[in-house]
Amino acid sequence: MYTQALNEKPPSDTAISAAKARPEDAAKLARFQAIIDAEEKIEPNDWMPDGYRRTLQRQISQHAHSEIIGMQPEGNWLTRAPSLKRKAALLAKIQDEAGHGHYLYSAAETLGISREQYYEQLLSGRAKYSSIFNYPTLTWADMGAVGWLVDGAAIMNQIPLCRCSYGPYARAMIRVCKEESFHQRQGFEIMLTLCRGTPAQKAMAQDALDRFWWPVLMMFGPSDKDSMHSADSAKWKIKRFSNDELREKFIDATVPQGKFLGLTFPDPHLTFNDTTGHWEHGPIDWSEFKRVLAGDGPCNRQRLRNRRTSEADGTWVREAALAYAEKRRQRLAAAKVAAE
Ligand SMILES: [Fe+2]
Ligand SMILES: [Fe+2]
Repeated sequence: MYTQALNEKPPSDTAISAAKARPEDAAKLARFQAIIDAEEKIEPNDWMPDGYRRTLQRQISQHAHSEIIGMQPEGNWLTRAPSLKRKAALLAKIQDEAGHGHYLYSAAETLGISREQYYEQLLSGRAKYSSIFNYPTLTWADMGAVGWLVDGAAIMNQIPLCRCSYGPYARAMIRVCKEESFHQRQGFEIMLTLCRGTPAQKAMAQDALDRFWWPVLMMFGPSDKDSMHSADSAKWKIKRFSNDELREKFIDATVPQGKFLGLTFPDPHLTFNDTTGHWEHGPIDWSEFKRVLAGDGPCNRQRLRNRRTSEADGTWVREAALAYAEKRRQRLAAAKVAAE
């Protein structure tokens, strides 16, 4: 899924001023910015300022971690899907998320940090991932709400990333976005089925919306006035819209869908402003966001514990694959010698 604009101090300011201190780097910096301003792509072997590299290492790996951790809340319902058709669609979606994680780790590796190092950052708890995946999925309706809202928010965030200045990230995003749009539709369709079902099914859909609405709005990150690292990301064309702009786009797209479902949003302040043409929302509880991000959400510990267990359980598979690859390499080398 899901990159999240997290409120961290950017490393770039010092990197840029250091670069400016050396005339040859100033020339490289000017060339680098000219490529970006011309809407061309920066590729792995191109020169780039340290701040740009570090920002992308952090953002792409957080995005990859989110895809992988994001498999857990939905994996929770695989064995209890209400029909074979629902199970097949959910299974396909979760497998897509694994694929997204792998494209993104591959893109992040081109920035000079290995996949194993990124894994280690996640497993040690040092790396962040999207706060939304630390909430539990309590009912089947949550599979609808997650697809409709979480993947819907991810699409808003990720469509502009298809034009990100870093080539490997932008190209990965194009495929990811196509799949996310399938995820969003299958989630909405689950909600629609429940809302057209019995009163109990509709109540289940309403409850899922009530629980997920505010955490989903938090996925876009802190408000622009509290966000510390938008300026460099905007200049480098990593981020094309601010957190608040993306949140507004998402709300504008989603509220009519919720009304079509016959559901209500858990926000008494949600009103349409005729002058601006946008929906306006009530205050977001940022203390909850900070708490969840700091590790104290309802499921943070469970998510990391599961990931660590999976990593440990998979050790023998990785060892066997490496041993097989080595045996194959030796066999091919021996066959080549015999043929000469
Ligand atoms: Fe995804
Ligand atoms: Fe998705």
